[in-house]
Amino acid sequence: MFKILEKEVFSPVIKKMVVEAPRVARRCQAGQFVILRVQENGERIPLTIADFDREKGTITIVFQEVGKTTKLLGTLNAGDYILDFVGPLGTPSHIENFGTVVCVGGGVGIAPVFPIARALKEAGNYVISIIGARTKELLFWEDRMREVSDELLVTTDDGSYVRKGFVTDVLKELIEQRGKENINLVLAIGPQPMMRACCKVTGEYGIKTIVSLNSLMVDGTGMCGCCRVTVGGQTRFVCVDGPEFDGHQVDWDILARRSATFRQEEQRALELYTGQCKCGGGN
Ligand SMILES: Cc1cc2nc3c(=O)[nH]c(=O)nc-3n(C[C@H](O)[C@H](O)[C@H](O)COP(=O)(O)OP(=O)(O)OC[C@H]3O[C@@H](n4cnc5c(N)ncnc54)[C@H](O)[C@@H]3O)c2cc1C
Ligand code: FES
Repeated sequence: MFKILEKEVFSPVIKKMVVEAPRVARRCQAGQFVILRVQENGERIPLTIADFDREKGTITIVFQEVGKTTKLLGTLNAGDYILDFVGPLGTPSHIENFGTVVCVGGGVGIAPVFPIARALKEAGNYVISIIGARTKELLFWEDRMREVSDELLVTTDDGSYVRKGFVTDVLKELIEQRGKENINLVLAIGPQPMMRACCKVTGEYGIKTIVSLNSLMVDGTGMCGCCRVTVGGQTRFVCVDGPEFDGHQVDWDILARRSATFRQEEQRALELYTGQCKCGGGN
C-alpha cells in the first residue's frame, strides 16, 4: 500500500498527488513512469513520474480525469492509500548537451515535460519551453517550468491567458524567428494529436523531435505487447522501448486506431461508475 502524502487540485479535472514510494524514488529518472492500481478490483493505469524526492522517498504524479480509473483516483485524499504503485518503468529520457532544446507541453503533458526539461537544463542545454492548454483553468506549473527553462512561452487555445493559439503555432513562430539551424532538438509531450501536429511542424524544418507516447498498457513490463506501436516500420513496445521515440518515425494512424480499441467499454465503465456514485455508494 502506498500512502498519498499530499494532494493538490489544479483544476476540477487535473490533480497532483505526492505518494510515498521510496523504492521507486530511489531509482527513477526523468522520462519514466509508474503503473498503479487504485484498489483490488481496479485496472492498472500508467502515469508519468512528474517529480521525485529521493531523500523523502516520494513520487509526484499529475493526472487528468478522463475516465473511470482517473476519476476514482481523484476521489482519494492525503492519508489514503493506492494499492499498487509499480516502477520506475520505461527507458529514461536520453539526456545530453544537445545545445538548444525546445520542450513543448500540452495540457496534462506539462507534468511529464517538467523533469525532462530540468534534466536537460542541468546537462547544460539552453531550454526554451512552450506550455499550453485549452483554457487558463487547465494550465499549471508555469512557475516550475519557468525555473527549469531559459525562456518560457505560454499559450491557451481560447486566449483566456497570455496569448491565443495552439502550442504548435508558438513552435512554428519560434522556429521561424530563431532559424531552424539554431534549434537542435524538440521534445513534445501531450495528447496524441498535439504531438503529431508538433512533428508535422518540425518535419517541415528537419528538426529532430522526440515524443512520449501514451498507448494503452497493461503490465508495463514488456510481457504482453498491448502497448505496441510502429516506429520506423518496426514494432516497438512503448513500455520498455519507450515511452520516448523519434516522432517523425511514429505511425500515428495505427497508434490512434489502437488507442480507440476500448472506447465503448471505457464509456460503459464510466457510466456505471458515475451512476454508482449518484446512488451514494459502490466503488
Ligand atoms: C507512459 C504513459 C504515461 C502517462 N502519463 C500520464 C500522466 O502523467 N498524466 C495523465 O493524466 N495521463 C497519463 N497517461 C494517460 C493515462 O494512462 C490515461 O489517462 C488513463 O489510463 C485513463 O484511464 P481511465 O480509466 O481514467 O480512462 P479510460 O476510460 O481508459 O479512457 C477515457 C477516455 O479518455 C481517453 N484518454 C485516455 N488516455 C488519454 C490521454 N492520455 N489523453 C487524452 N485522452 C485520453 C480515452 O481515449 C477514452 O476515450 C499516460 C499514459 C502512458 C502510456
Ligand atoms: S504493456 Fe504489456 S508489453 Fe507493454
